[in-house]
Amino acid sequence: MPHDFMPGLAGIPAAKSAISDVDGERGVLEYRGIRVEELCQHSSYLETAYLLLYGHLPSQAALAKWETDIAHHRRVKYSIIDLMKCLPEQGHPMDALQAAVAALGMFYPGRNVNNLDNNYWSAVRLIAKLPTIVAAWARLRRGDEAIAPRDELGFSENFFYMLTETIPHPLWVDIFDDCLILHAEHTMNASTFTGLITASTLADPYTVVASSIGALKGPLHGGANEEVVQMLKEIGTADRAAPYVEAQIHEKRKLMGFGHRVYKVKDPRATILQRLCERLFNTCGTSQLYNIALGVERRAAELLGAKKVYPNVDFYSGILYDKMGIEPDLFTPIFAMARVSGWLAHWLEQLAENKLFRPDQIYAGEHNRPYLPLAQR
Ligand code: CMC
Repeated sequence: MPHDFMPGLAGIPAAKSAISDVDGERGVLEYRGIRVEELCQHSSYLETAYLLLYGHLPSQAALAKWETDIAHHRRVKYSIIDLMKCLPEQGHPMDALQAAVAALGMFYPGRNVNNLDNNYWSAVRLIAKLPTIVAAWARLRRGDEAIAPRDELGFSENFFYMLTETIPHPLWVDIFDDCLILHAEHTMNASTFTGLITASTLADPYTVVASSIGALKGPLHGGANEEVVQMLKEIGTADRAAPYVEAQIHEKRKLMGFGHRVYKVKDPRATILQRLCERLFNTCGTSQLYNIALGVERRAAELLGAKKVYPNVDFYSGILYDKMGIEPDLFTPIFAMARVSGWLAHWLEQLAENKLFRPDQIYAGEHNRPYLPLAQR
C-alpha cells in the first residue's frame, strides 16, 4: 500500500489522547480541557500533575493524600547519590538525571505494568524523586553534599531548599510552581512520543522516563531554554539585539526559543512566562537579559512574522530561572522535573489500550546486489 512520507511525522497523529490540546492558530493550551492560564492562576503543580494523570481535579482528601504520598517519596537511596558521585562533574545535568532515573528502576518493583497499584507508586516515586536528583547533582558536582528533602515543605519550596539550603520568598515559590505547571504537558511532542514508543514495549516506567529525558535534552526540544540564555548573554546589550537577529536570519541560522511545529502565533506559555518575569522583576529588579530578549522579540516579529515564527515556551523561562540564580544547564532538567507528569499521564493512558509501535518505512535502497568478496573491493 503506498504511503505519503511526512518528514518528522508532521501532522500525522501518533495516538488518541484526552490529556491536553493545543490550538496552534489561536494560541490556546488546555490540560484535560482546562486552560493553562486558569491552572496557573488557581492550581499548584502537584494538583495539575494529578489532573493530568487521572483526568479530573482531586477532591480535598485526594489532593492531601497525593501531596503526602509525593512528600514521603522524595528521598533517594544513598546508592543513587553514590552513583552520581561517580559521574564526571563537568557532565551535563540531563545526562546525570537520565542515568539516575534509569538506575532508579533497579530499586523498585515497577516491572509489571499491568498492576495498577505498582503504576500509582511508580508515578509517585518518579514525580517525587526527579527534583531530589536534579538538586543533588547540582550540589555534588561542585563538591557539596546533597541536601535531604523536608517533608513539611511544598513541592517547589522543597526544590529550592535542596538546591540552596534556604527557603525562598513565597513569591518565588509561586512563580516557580507556575513555571512547572506550564512545562507539565504538551500533547505529542518528541519526548512524549519517545516515552510512548518505549512504553509500547511494556518496559517499566523508569525506562520510559529515562528515554523521554534523552529526547528532551536536544536543542530543538527542551535544550533550547539553556541556549536562549547563552544567546542573550552573547548579544550582551539591548542595542545589539536587532543587528544580531538580522545577522542570524541572514546566515539562515535558527533563533533559539522561536518557532514551533504547532503554534502559528506566540506560544501562550511564553506570554504567561513573560508576565511571570515582570512579576518577579517588580520585586527584585529587572534583568538585562529580559531587556535584550524584548529587543530580539521585536526585531524577530518584523523579520519572521510572515513565517509565523514567534517566541515559544523556551524563550522566557531561562530568563526567569537566571534571575532566581539557577545555573543555565539546570533549566532543561527543571523542564524534565515538570514534564515527567505529562510523560506519565501518556504512559498510563496508552497502557489502557497498548499496541507496540512498529511503524513502516519507505525503502529507498537497492535490491539483489551481489556480495563482493573482500579481496575484490
Ligand atoms: N529561527 C529562525 N527561523 C525559524 C525558526 C527559528 N527559531 N524556526 C523556524 N524557522 C523558519 C525555518 O527556517 C523555516 O523557514 P523556511 O521555510 O524559509 O525554510 C520555517 O520557519 C519552518 O521551520 P521548520 O524548522 O521547518 O519548522 P519545524 O516545525 O520543523 O520546527 C522547531 C520547529 C521548534 C524545531 C523550530 O522552530 C526550531 O528549530 N526552533 C528553534 C529551537 C527551539 O526553540 N526549540 C524549542 C521548541 S518549543 C518547546 C520545546 O519543545 O521544548
